[in-house]
Amino acid sequence: MALVMISGLRGGVGVTSIAANLAMTIASGGHSTVVLDLSQASTLGLHFGLDPRQPVPGFDAPAAATGPIHGVRLLNAAPQAVSKDLGEGLSSGDFSFTGEVVHIADLSGADPGAAVQLRPHADLEICVLVPSAECLYHLPAALDSLPAETVFVLNRCDDTRRLGRHTASFVRELLGPRLIATIHADEAVAEAGAMMQPLARHSPASAALADIGAIAGRIALLAAPSLPVEATGIRPSRSNAA
Ligand SMILES: Nc1ncnc2c1ncn2[C@@H]1O[C@H](COP(=O)(O)OP(=O)(O)OP(=O)(O)O)[C@@H](O)[C@H]1O
Ligand SMILES: [Mg+2]
Repeated sequence: MALVMISGLRGGVGVTSIAANLAMTIASGGHSTVVLDLSQASTLGLHFGLDPRQPVPGFDAPAAATGPIHGVRLLNAAPQAVSKDLGEGLSSGDFSFTGEVVHIADLSGADPGAAVQLRPHADLEICVLVPSAECLYHLPAALDSLPAETVFVLNRCDDTRRLGRHTASFVRELLGPRLIATIHADEAVAEAGAMMQPLARHSPASAALADIGAIAGRIALLAAPSLPVEATGIRPSRSNAA
């Protein structure tokens, strides 16, 4: 198992928060985990307590310069996506996402070409949406343009709100098994961000963290080479996923 792409149906739906906390959860289970930052205006470091002036190490930085933070290595691959070096390097085999390291690619606010370059090498592509009119408005076009293997996560679910309830049931019906998870709307996510802390540290009992943990468990199963992919309940994006 190697590469999980995460993007949003729109901006601000929670991609970076999910990618960061998902990666930390997977890492806490003992898996080598990397977050690839593809964002043009990254907020990834926020979730790891990085000073905003401290750049995320480059994709080509030596391993020694990219020591794990909360168990996760952060690599900025945005420049390589813009220059197309990312796709070319992956195609030529200069770098690859094989092995047992779990790579989570944060594609929120990424160069539009980044997803195209990563997609042939991805094991799983997740699109995040929220219960909003804007997301629902864009959903048909997304379903037309995204690969059929793309799965969805509905973030900021709030069953106490009528729109939240109706959206969740509509999306469940529309997407069926392609909706792999829902994540509660949870003030703790925003609070952890404001404290520049992992959600697990700021609010270990938070509902959103439990939801993210369930997704992490399924992704971690993909990283176990001895297990058949079907055991995860997630249909892999590429045929050679193991
Ligand atoms: N489950 C949740 N419950 C409550 N707030 C959330 C949840 N998930 C994310 N948020 C909040 O939503 C805001 C946007 O989150 P985030 O930056 O992760 O989104 P993004 O999709 O990466 O945005 P961008 O497109 O700007 O990169 C943040 O303030 C975050 O705290
Ligand atoms: Mg983001």
